[in-house]
Amino acid sequence: MKLAVLGLGTVGSGVINLLRQNKDIIEERINGNFDITHVFARDNRYNLDLSGIIHTQDIDEIINSDVDLVIEVMGGIDFAYETIKSLLKSGKHVVTANKDMLAIHVEELSRIANENEVQFNYEASVAGGIPVILGLQYGLNANHITRIMGILNGTTNYILTRMSQDDWEFDYALNQAQELGYAEADPTNDIGGFDARRKTAILSRLAYRREIDMEDVAVTGIEELELTDIQIAKEAGYTIKLIGLSEVQDGQIDMMVTPMLLDTATQLAKVDEAMNAVYFNGDAIGETMFYGPGAGSMETASAIVADAMYILSFGFIGNTVTEGKAPIAPQSFARKYYVRVEESTTSLENALDSNFFEVVYSGEEGTAFTTEPVTMEDAKAQLKDFNVQAIYPIAD
Ligand SMILES: NC(=O)c1ccc[n+]([C@@H]2O[C@H](COP(=O)([O-])OP(=O)(O)OC[C@H]3O[C@@H](n4cnc5c(N)ncnc54)[C@H](OP(=O)(O)O)[C@@H]3O)[C@@H](O)[C@H]2O)c1
Repeated sequence: MKLAVLGLGTVGSGVINLLRQNKDIIEERINGNFDITHVFARDNRYNLDLSGIIHTQDIDEIINSDVDLVIEVMGGIDFAYETIKSLLKSGKHVVTANKDMLAIHVEELSRIANENEVQFNYEASVAGGIPVILGLQYGLNANHITRIMGILNGTTNYILTRMSQDDWEFDYALNQAQELGYAEADPTNDIGGFDARRKTAILSRLAYRREIDMEDVAVTGIEELELTDIQIAKEAGYTIKLIGLSEVQDGQIDMMVTPMLLDTATQLAKVDEAMNAVYFNGDAIGETMFYGPGAGSMETASAIVADAMYILSFGFIGNTVTEGKAPIAPQSFARKYYVRVEESTTSLENALDSNFFEVVYSGEEGTAFTTEPVTMEDAKAQLKDFNVQAIYPIAD
């Protein structure tokens, strides 16, 4: 079997290294041989030994070649999308880690792959090295999935861990994350929650087998999250994490990415540093959790090479396509909230039913309280006369 790798960056170099390092067991397990025959890249940043491999900057050379399987690890949206489309149409299997592109084009590309009887796999696009897509698509396939809840972005989890454990301010924690290479120079995708939103959309589509519009995932990042709220929450027994949440109630789906309060005793609250974790709830399984590294050169390569091995072993087995748009009910489910307002406890007591809220902090930063389950719309209506400084859902 002939393989090509597009992109020789962090992940591409890991893929080539892993394919070489574990060639013996890979060939044994796929019951066949493989060679990396082509790479497509502008340069060779990590000085990989490319002897015996055609290093091209002309993508048509790969599209028109006799390569069987192409691994796309360039990133970016338009060029990657056009390239994968051409590769699938030319009868090549494709493996990608490209969540930015998948969040928009996964449905169309999966259909094109099926029409051309080739496999299109993307395990590494969500939670890096953790096999959540395989787990969801195969391991949990007999379930109605009712909830997905996860820490899907390592950069923000690192920042929140440092804010919570070391009382670092957000800007300092972000700066450190950049120095450690966790955060990019432009961190908007991570801290704004957009990266986690893409992953929430990709998982939700596979879980419910319905078309998901990324815009239907409500997104609140961590840029506005204040250290004060992390500290108050901690005193009250909660840890704040950036959570991707996708839930089904009465046939309606609600999806969001938001800072969320988790009971500190729960496993998800203990997922620290740059690690990822995903919970799935299903009618047969109850609850199951996947935990591990969400990024990294060899960690991500682990998922990509496993995808490739699956294809090299079984060939075309069909790609998941969906049946119409998902029924979306944005932010309509009743949840408990953590709220901080500028006003005093007394003004709160004068305005709200005492059964509705429980004060957890009162002082210089205003009044913080937790609520009984309420829809976001109702919460806003009840709080319309207050200066709300923070409002975040509490996980049940
Ligand atoms: N890094 C992770 O841990 C991780 C985890 C999960 C998923 N992913 C995904 O994996 C993909 C790759 O990420 P990465 O971190 O490896 O990125 P990266 O280090 O920036 O590497 C990308 C590589 O692709 C090349 N490339 C990009 N566009 C190209 C083009 N139009 N023509 C030729 N070469 C091009 C780049 O070449 P130049 O250097 O010349 O630009 C570079 O070698 C992304 O989709 C990312 O979202 C990454």
